[in-house]
Amino acid sequence: MTNKLKYFIGNWKMFGDFTSYKIVNKINQYIYKRKGAKSSKIVLCVPNTLIYPFRNKLKRRVIYFGAQNCYQQEGYGPFTGAVSAGMLKKAGAEYIILGHSENRSEGETVQLIKKKIISALNQKMNIIFCIGETYLEKKRGRTFSVIRNQIMSSLEKKFNKNKIILAYEPIWSIGSNIIPNIKDLCATIKFIKNDFKKTFKTRKSPRVLYGGSVNKNNVKMLSTVTEIDGFLIGGASQSAKKFIDIIKNYYK
Ligand code: PGA
Repeated sequence: MTNKLKYFIGNWKMFGDFTSYKIVNKINQYIYKRKGAKSSKIVLCVPNTLIYPFRNKLKRRVIYFGAQNCYQQEGYGPFTGAVSAGMLKKAGAEYIILGHSENRSEGETVQLIKKKIISALNQKMNIIFCIGETYLEKKRGRTFSVIRNQIMSSLEKKFNKNKIILAYEPIWSIGSNIIPNIKDLCATIKFIKNDFKKTFKTRKSPRVLYGGSVNKNNVKMLSTVTEIDGFLIGGASQSAKKFIDIIKNYYK
């Protein structure tokens, strides 16, 4: 175990309603009571409708809230159904997931993701920028080039890198109960960190999370990849017990 800050970020996707407050409350209470919680940062990216009510209701809040996407246009405007980064920030979201493969697969382009990143950076939000290859791309040995391309086409040197956390999520591992083998994962995380530093000429390594089928049974094994700065957790974050068990097992 290292002293470095570890992120446990829940991605609720399109799940949850007001009754799910009990999940949030349990997680917050656990983190509040847990000794050494200072070495971890817990963020729940809940549906937009739940950010404000949950954040407002929590007593002794030690966890943070995030959104899962935003519209590319800043501020306000005639965009029916859209929600801007600024509106999410005002609702209490300090983090935002952008570039998730579930949105890329709906037609979200790298240029659009870039615009969204810029609008969220202008709001001083923390961005969880998702990258990762398909199974076919992996089979063809294209993992590194796909990732490099995703990073280069949506980020720029002038962006505030302190506000950007990368989340490596191989698309084939999302919701499939399959995680990459540890050797491959270690190599990919190292590649991301080194390539990022080279591309943007920074000395500081970016924070890189792993996401895809993280659960209480595989988190200990995943923790052996010391370069990983935390996890983006989908399915298992929709249950207080499953989410807390991941944190418990990680620190065991
Ligand atoms: P999963 O989802 O943990 O359910 O695989 C991860 C994600 O989509 O961020």
